[in-house]
Amino acid sequence: MSNQSIDFDKNPPVTSNEYDNMARIALPGYDAMHTMVLSCLRSHLAEKANLLIVGAGTGMELVKFAQGNQNWHMLGVDPSADMLSIAQEKIQQQGLSEQITLFRGYIHDLPIHPLYDAATSILVMHFIPDDGSKLAFLQSIAQRLHSSAAFILVDVFGEKNTREFERTVSFMKEYWQEMKVPPEKIVTLLESLNTGVYPIPEARVLELLQQAGFGDVIKFYTGIWVGGWVASKK
Ligand SMILES: C[S@@+](CC[C@H](N)C(=O)[O-])C[C@H]1O[C@@H](n2cnc3c(N)ncnc32)[C@H](O)[C@@H]1O
Repeated sequence: MSNQSIDFDKNPPVTSNEYDNMARIALPGYDAMHTMVLSCLRSHLAEKANLLIVGAGTGMELVKFAQGNQNWHMLGVDPSADMLSIAQEKIQQQGLSEQITLFRGYIHDLPIHPLYDAATSILVMHFIPDDGSKLAFLQSIAQRLHSSAAFILVDVFGEKNTREFERTVSFMKEYWQEMKVPPEKIVTLLESLNTGVYPIPEARVLELLQQAGFGDVIKFYTGIWVGGWVASKK
């Protein structure tokens, strides 16, 4: 088992400064996906709630979820200092410091208490190998949730080295060209797909969720190769 996932400080697939623009260009439906995650959370949570945001990155979801939900308090966790410094800037600019706390590190570095009412992992777990590390990641999240808490997972999924996956990659190349992603960035995205992205088939996603202690799974989003699932901690 490896605790390694791609390092967004040393070897980022996209640098922290260009992340927000590139995420919107490179991932079909990126903003709509975050809106759907927010809707899922609203439908599960009371007006007052504490949320654990795993892989918070540049704070895209932190800011979106905090605005309009003044009684939600969030802990954003991420190992990347570069990504978190951009998140911190946005939090200050938007006056959201009372609602959002940042923690640099991994989920297993967090204390077991307090327990959270909901957690999200958006575009994070596909950077973790399926050698026991994905399961450990999900179990660490489950350990920090109340029973019945909502957990939202959004990840690239699919099985590498299959015809279906190759066809999806070729579709994505066309999409990126259409979206005017510079050719050298397309090369970097494809390289990181080969070396640091570990998608798994949807059946394996569901199996891991179940093994980690989650049930009642509903798929709420698909953007070509990105899937979004909402589950409940058993
Ligand atoms: C593609 S960004 C996603 C950012 C944000 N969640 C979004 O929706 O755009 C992935 C983030 O996950 C972080 N990350 C990578 N491995 C992680 C891990 N094992 N635990 C938590 N975060 C991790 C990276 O540092 C990076 O900031």
